[in-house]
Formats: sequence, C-alpha cells, structure tokens
Amino acid sequence: MTDAALRTEQHRPAEPAVLDDVPGWFWDHDRHLFEWFLTRQEKAGVTGDLLEMGAYLGRSAIVIGGHLQPSETFTVCDLFDSDAPDDENAAEMEMSYRRTLTRSAFEENYLSFHDELPEIIQAPTSSLAGGRIPAGAFRFIHIDASHLYEHVVGDLQVARVALQPEGVVVLDDYRSAHTPGVAAATWEAVFNHDLKPIVLTEGKFYGTWGDPEPAQRDLLDRVDLSEDCDLTVEVLNGRRMVRIGNNPLRIAPFRPSRHHDRLAAEAARREAEQTAEEEQRAQRAAAADLDARRARAAERRRPVNVAKRVAGDLLPPVVTSAIRRARRG
Ligand SMILES: C[S@@+](CC[C@H](N)C(=O)[O-])C[C@H]1O[C@@H](n2cnc3c(N)ncnc32)[C@H](O)[C@@H]1O
Repeated sequence: MTDAALRTEQHRPAEPAVLDDVPGWFWDHDRHLFEWFLTRQEKAGVTGDLLEMGAYLGRSAIVIGGHLQPSETFTVCDLFDSDAPDDENAAEMEMSYRRTLTRSAFEENYLSFHDELPEIIQAPTSSLAGGRIPAGAFRFIHIDASHLYEHVVGDLQVARVALQPEGVVVLDDYRSAHTPGVAAATWEAVFNHDLKPIVLTEGKFYGTWGDPEPAQRDLLDRVDLSEDCDLTVEVLNGRRMVRIGNNPLRIAPFRPSRHHDRLAAEAARREAEQTAEEEQRAQRAAAADLDARRARAAERRRPVNVAKRVAGDLLPPVVTSAIRRARRG
C-alpha cells in the first residue's frame, strides 16, 4: 500500500455507511466471485465453516460473514494490534497496516453490517496449524494475511487440512509485482501439492483440492454470473483455468450498514443547513448591494449634483471646460 493510499484510508468515515467506507483491498470482481462461490455452495445444500486469514479492517470479512448459515462458524484470524512472529512479518505490518489497524476498529466495522462478531483468533495464522481449527470442516477459506512466501506456504497447508474435499480456497495477490512470495507459494502448491486452479481474477486465485470442473462449467455457462464478467479459458500444463478480465462490472452494491439511514439523514440535514446558509449569505449580499445603489442614487439626487449634471447636459462643451478650468484655478 502506498503512502498516498494510506492517507486516503485515514480519511474514511469512522462509522461506515456502505462497504466502500471500510478501508481494504477488496474489489467488485472478487466480491462478485466470493458471493458467486458461497451462494453456489448454499444452493447446492453444502454447509461448512468459513475462514479468513488476514481481515484488516473487515472489508472482505463483512462479505464472507453475510453468507454464514445457522449451523456454521465464521473464523477470522489476524494479528490486529499484536506483535508479528518474525522480523520480516513485523516490517510488512509496519509498512502496510500498523497506522490504521486495531482489533476494535475491525469489530466496529463488522458490527456495522452484522449483529454478531465472527470467532476472532488474534494471533499469527501459523497458530491455526496443529488442530486449533477442525480438519475437513470448512467450505470456503480466504488467505490474505502475510504475503511472505514462508507464511503463505504455511497458510496453504492449514487450508488444505481444514477444507472439505470440495472446499474453495482463495489466495490474494497471487500475481502482484510486490508479492512474489504469494506467487511462488501458489504455483508451488499447484505444481507440487495438487492444488487445482478454478478461476483467476486480476487480484485473486480461486482453487480447490477437489474437482475444479463443476464450478468451471457453471462459470463458463454463466450460471448466476454478472454479464459484465469477461471470461477466457487458459490451459496450463494440461489443466484448464478460467480467467475473468478486469472490465468494469455493474453489480449491485453490498447492502448498506446499520448506520446508513442515520448518516444519510445527517448528511441531508447538513446539506440543507449549508444551502440555507448560502441563501442567507446571498440575501445579505443582495441587500447590501441594494443599500449601496440607493445611497449612490440619493447622492446623485442632491441639488448640487443635479445642477452639475444639468449644466453638463445643457451648456456647450467649451463652456463647461472653461468652468472646470476656472474652478481648478
Ligand atoms: C491485506 S490485509 C487483509 C485485507 C482484507 N482481507 C481486505 O480485503 O480488506 C492483511 C492482513 O493480514 C494481517 N497479517 C499479516 N501477517 C499476519 C500473520 N502472520 N498472521 C495473521 N495475520 C497477519 C494484517 O494484520 C492485515 O490485517
């Protein structure tokens, strides 16, 4: 994240009215695809837990949490304000998140859109290994914590154990210039550890350790897919991958937060007050202008000035010049 982007982040409203008010890196194509995968599972009667590694201020977690079914658990794992487990991860935290991230800010954002918080594990994602979360229980896992190679390798191992056989794993920043570690870990998992790509967007890799074909068929048949999604198919080492281009999408915005109506009413009131103030200012200026014009007219009507004007109008120019010269002399 650049300094300019961080400065923008710091000027977001404290209470989000809409998802775009929550700082983060989660864009429309991926919001659409998260909802596409989760809804597809729900329509097929698939149940299972949800997990996000790396939540920041909640932008993607809020969307995932919108799909939590009654029997399911949504777990979010993030360091938030805790120390990182190693120096490289600490530097990453310092550079990108420390200035803006607190657990309470995450919670406040999340509760603006949902009645209950997810299960929060405030710890390094490495703490999820070794049985802290149930094996084979998850239907959807988003990996978006540390972007360093060693961490992502560990997160993928956790995901592989935690996912149901047909569960979906999403990796963030698998191809960005500033995150070669994620790219290395992702493609290593594809080539050496049986991870199968389903679909790629500009920002995220969607895969499974199960069968990628049914979801790919539904994508290519455009089942419930936005008509703006521009699909292409790529074959890599004999394996099919779908790609979604980055053309603008017209998808419905995520539902507004619980603060939306109040904030909208407050904004409308402020705007009305501002308009009324501007009108009053304009009225005062017009009244002042009228007073000035009246004063100038009264001045013009004073007898001495009337006489001057009449003299100017009636006497020949040579006479009026002579009078003026005489007065100056
Ligand atoms: C890119 S942000 C997540 C963005 C978020 N998913 C969104 O869409 O807005 C990465 C997050 O990972 C967290 N993080 C970094 N290293 C971590 C680690 N080792 N364990 C757990 N969380 C970590 C950071 O605190 C930060 O909140």
